[in-house]
Amino acid sequence: PPLDDLWDTNDFQIAAKNVLSGAYYADYRTGALNEYTYQANLGIYSQVKLNGFAFRDVSNLQTNTTILGYNFTQPFFIAPAADAGHANKSAEASLAQAAGKAGILYVPSISSTLSIEQIAAAGVDGQVMFHQEYVWANQSRIIDELDRIKAAGFKAIFLTVDNTGINGVRTRSMRFNAESDTGHSVNFNLNSLAAFRNLTTLPIVPKGIKSWQDAVTCLNLGFPAIYVSNHGGRVLDGVPTSVEILMDIRQNAPQVFDEMEVYADGGVRRGTDALILLALGARAVGLGRPPMFANIWGEAGVARMISLFGTEMATSMRLMGVENVNQLNTSYVNTNGITL
Ligand code: FNR
Repeated sequence: PPLDDLWDTNDFQIAAKNVLSGAYYADYRTGALNEYTYQANLGIYSQVKLNGFAFRDVSNLQTNTTILGYNFTQPFFIAPAADAGHANKSAEASLAQAAGKAGILYVPSISSTLSIEQIAAAGVDGQVMFHQEYVWANQSRIIDELDRIKAAGFKAIFLTVDNTGINGVRTRSMRFNAESDTGHSVNFNLNSLAAFRNLTTLPIVPKGIKSWQDAVTCLNLGFPAIYVSNHGGRVLDGVPTSVEILMDIRQNAPQVFDEMEVYADGGVRRGTDALILLALGARAVGLGRPPMFANIWGEAGVARMISLFGTEMATSMRLMGVENVNQLNTSYVNTNGITL
């Protein structure tokens, strides 16, 4: 379908299903096992009520924010996702360009189609990007990649810690024999997490935090930020959603939100979904599958998805009586429908 006919992230996904091969669509779409977590990620937002306030001046609406001190136009970013080349031969280059032109953060996966250097070169002048890394069993591979990531100009590392040693069982994708993101890394412990920081001078953000205990561990070790995520329901099926994890951290370790930046993702398909995570304490919100599907239409597709999503978010902010994304806090959401 022509790009002009696609009006939200769901339209992009439906269109993608018709365009991609069964194997590639399954690779992007799949969750693990029963996909309970995949479905819960999408459904949880309907259980949170947004509080809207009428008597507020929202004439100077501001969506811009900082992430690790860098300025971005939006509090949402393109999360790391492997193999963008399955959607389009421009692969990660069009994701980098669309993000750069929109002024949002892009964090390419270490399992990308293009090389670290190719993705860096594809960005626009002055664009700030972070890079994802895994804890590979081969330490010299990690050191080499971290050196290349830094040399290429990336400003921080999202270190994925939720599938170290073994990956999720993704039945939907296995049926096509298309699983590409296979088990790959070492069994990871506290010492290895702390020691990882000696491998690079770039700031490191552990990605895949699912409990307040792990959040506190990262805080105590002095990490500048954590990334709450269940990996889009692709690793361990049956774990909580980011809404529940953020609520759990607030209940048991509220200091985490004051003392470090917290990012979150999972099932974010509407501007209102992003606002819910921001209100629950996330400073920035990741989109995994939506940009991957939009990239079938290349840079223009990703740009349109970002723009539509931004409009949903900004419009909903106005309707809530929120002028600045940094004003969002728990007073804007009612989570009474959710029991932890
Ligand atoms: C991912 N994700 C991911 N995460 C990561 O740290 N490294 C990776 O290489 C990948 N690869 C990957 C591939 C594909 C096709 C998907 C869909 C996801 C997880 C990703 O960063 C993010 O956590 C989730 O995708 C967020 O959920 P939604 O937005 O897809 O629902």
